[in-house]
Amino acid sequence: MRFLVTGGAGFIGSHLVDRLLGEGHRVTVVDNFDPFYDPAIKEENIAQHLHHPDYRLVRADLRDAAALREELEGGYDAIIHLAACAGVRPSILEPAKYQAVNVGGTQNLLELAREWGVKQFVFASSSSVYGTNPNVPWREDEPGLRPISPYASTKVSCELLGHVYSHLYGIRFIGLRFFTVYGPRQRPDLAIHKFARMIAAGEPIPFHGDGTSSRDYTYIDDIIAGVRAAIDYRNSAYEIINLGNDQPVTLSGLVELISAAVGREAVIQRLPDQPGDVPRTRADIGKAARLLGYRPATPLATGIGKFVEWLREREPVPGK
Ligand SMILES: NC(=O)c1ccc[n+]([C@@H]2O[C@H](COP(=O)([O-])OP(=O)(O)OC[C@H]3O[C@@H](n4cnc5c(N)ncnc54)[C@H](O)[C@@H]3O)[C@@H](O)[C@H]2O)c1
Repeated sequence: MRFLVTGGAGFIGSHLVDRLLGEGHRVTVVDNFDPFYDPAIKEENIAQHLHHPDYRLVRADLRDAAALREELEGGYDAIIHLAACAGVRPSILEPAKYQAVNVGGTQNLLELAREWGVKQFVFASSSSVYGTNPNVPWREDEPGLRPISPYASTKVSCELLGHVYSHLYGIRFIGLRFFTVYGPRQRPDLAIHKFARMIAAGEPIPFHGDGTSSRDYTYIDDIIAGVRAAIDYRNSAYEIINLGNDQPVTLSGLVELISAAVGREAVIQRLPDQPGDVPRTRADIGKAARLLGYRPATPLATGIGKFVEWLREREPVPGK
């Protein structure tokens, strides 16, 4: 089959490309190597793909509809749209850019899907859409989405745009709400990656709040299994589905697990709560289990161990 993967040079996208090429599919990636974090990391992520005969890379910006139309040929069995300005805190500083890339880019892709007659569109949404909703674990039919960052509001907008296109043009739209994803190649701005490096280097780690905030961390292999199942899903025209782990851990608990894996005590720098950060995330994954057969299989301690192993292979990390 032929797939278009946007953001395929990024953390989650490059893992999905591994999987799809491994299964013998043809994959076209669109990515602009946005400098949100070091583009050299993205070049490294795709190094294995570049020589694959079934891989094509298009370096283009999703905001540039004309370039997409010119560079891409259509005829895809599905579009898996993972490219975005990610990151909650930076979205507060650059809300217009987040809106243009995330919502404008999704709009451009949905238009192309319509023009090309592509009937399957899988979209990377986020647990951040639930925001400060207190009814954890969060379910997809929760009426009260309460986003508290520009990033989160762009993801809500994209989910709604997807509904428009599924209704008007019969494009099946599956919006997957990822709950903090981690594992090898994780973005360097995200907590597990950042903390592991800082603990290994003996640097104080920024600890926002009193340590009781909690997150549902999901290992990359589990997320990819969920995305893969969504690509094959055919039973309805529009679905929003949580992909989480349903095993939330507090910030203090997370730091203990990372310290144990790195083999070094964490030095903590206490700081106030960050605006835009939600106090807790927790997924109800019953719908993902029913519709996609999704069953996350990686306990946090195991996943963190695998992540630290990967970090050590890339560069010497001090510690045990
Ligand atoms: N990592 C997580 O914990 C997490 C959680 C919830 C949702 N998500 C979503 O999953 C998706 C993938 O996240 P990730 O962690 O792999 O992020 P990432 O930043 O590693 O990957 C995103 C990719 O999109 C590309 N991109 C950004 N702007 C672009 C543009 N204008 N045109 C073309 N390409 C562009 C980037 O260069 C990057 O390679 C994103 O949509 C993100 O919002 C991620």
